[in-house]
Amino acid sequence: MDQQIAAILLAAGDGKRMNSSHQKVCCELLGKPMLRWVLDACCKAGMKPEDTCVVLSSEPRGVCELLPDGCATAVQAERRGTGHAVRCALPFLQQAAARGIDAVAVLCGDAPLIDEAVLLDSLAFHRKGGFAVTALTANISDPGRYGRIVRENGRFVRIVEAADASEKELAIHEINAGAYWFSIGYLIDALPLLQDTNAQGEYYLTDLVGLASAQGKTAGAFCCPDDRVALGANSRRELAALNRIARGRILDRLYDQGVDIPLSDGVMIGPDVTVGRDTQILPGCQILGNTVIGEGCIIGPNTRIIDCTIGDNCTIDSSRLAESHVGSGVRIGPFAQLRPGCKIADTVKIGNFVEVKNSTVGEKTSFAHLTYIGDSDFGERINVGCGVVTVNYDGLHKHRTTVGDHAFIGCNVNLIAPVTVGEGAYVAAATTVTEDVRPDALAIGRIRQRQLAGWARGKTK
Ligand code: UD1
Ligand code: CA
Repeated sequence: MDQQIAAILLAAGDGKRMNSSHQKVCCELLGKPMLRWVLDACCKAGMKPEDTCVVLSSEPRGVCELLPDGCATAVQAERRGTGHAVRCALPFLQQAAARGIDAVAVLCGDAPLIDEAVLLDSLAFHRKGGFAVTALTANISDPGRYGRIVRENGRFVRIVEAADASEKELAIHEINAGAYWFSIGYLIDALPLLQDTNAQGEYYLTDLVGLASAQGKTAGAFCCPDDRVALGANSRRELAALNRIARGRILDRLYDQGVDIPLSDGVMIGPDVTVGRDTQILPGCQILGNTVIGEGCIIGPNTRIIDCTIGDNCTIDSSRLAESHVGSGVRIGPFAQLRPGCKIADTVKIGNFVEVKNSTVGEKTSFAHLTYIGDSDFGERINVGCGVVTVNYDGLHKHRTTVGDHAFIGCNVNLIAPVTVGEGAYVAAATTVTEDVRPDALAIGRIRQRQLAGWARGKTK
């Protein structure tokens, strides 16, 4: 479905009150920067990156790193109001119009709770009404500093900023959420007409509603069912409040999808995480990024998973996993770590104090305790004893270790890479393997034990 829509995202605010070395829109909600929430809502509503334009300040600390490839940008060198910010994106608007885009959303990069459902519902309302501009509004008990929605005989005629409002207008509870749909032709024509003759000396984007009425055009007010779309974060306290709201929404979605979170203490799950039903998530778990977890798993307590795919019926206890793929029936932990680039097949066991990095591991292979596996390819049904180490780094370069199916690696073995242990081979405990081991061979390399009879007498007791 091609909607012919585009969006301008305002992100030029420096957010002094956030007290951050980064721009305000970089601050994170459940591990994801606020601006990304808004960009992703646009994407899910059907916009391609080139249909979105982010308005940056001249010193956009940390923002550019968040933008998807192809995303357009405009620079607002001086902060002179929301209307001025959108005016800085005029070249983008002209190009969008030339491409056949007919409706443009203007959104705040620091109001992350807007989602694609509200965007698309308000777009349908905007189109059906044939409005020049549609403002998203909300009814709130404490309208504070928000712009007020002014109606005359039921008709939406203008938005008045709190700083410019009369007593009577300040008593209005329907507020401007700060998100809009514009007819692109109207926006391009009207932006140059904005004036800064108001209490704040700013070019108000909101004046475009009154201007449309004055030109005999109509404006729509789309009252959002959930008033929290208007919420932005200007301080860490407000950010924490948004985190609580977003977290509650995600937990509710997961409960409805059959995920068991018996006690949500310390549980933080990102918005792009998918969890299968009957999976249990125990206290102290952070599950972030584009993680997918299957059904019937037990995750936690105290586990951190980022950007991983995990199959069904796994147990992951008190461990950390990043950028890895885990099959079904895998047992991990307690106190294990999968660093980026692991591909773990079904029913593997990765026990306590085991670290695996950039490695593939075949079905039913077991690393039960105290082991480091780096840059390795382990086959199926291999038993790896306690304390085995792949010696993958020679001080300059990393090298790979390969171990064939059914091999047995005894306790405290060092595998000095690059090295290959063949299928079914047996490496005796404490061996330091420096040469390839042939399939089905025994490799043993350790100092033969000596015994001096009676030597300890008088020393040990
Ligand atoms: C604006 C609306 C107000 C609405 C409120 C919702 C105007 C004039 N008023 O208030 O009716 O209720 O949002 O939150 O639009 N920004 C820039 N450049 C600027 C000014 C702002 O990029 O020169 C960005 C900010 O970073 C922020 C957004 O625009 O993301 C809104 O600005 P903010 O100052 O928070 O809102 P107000 O102008 O007070
Ligand atoms: Ca302002």
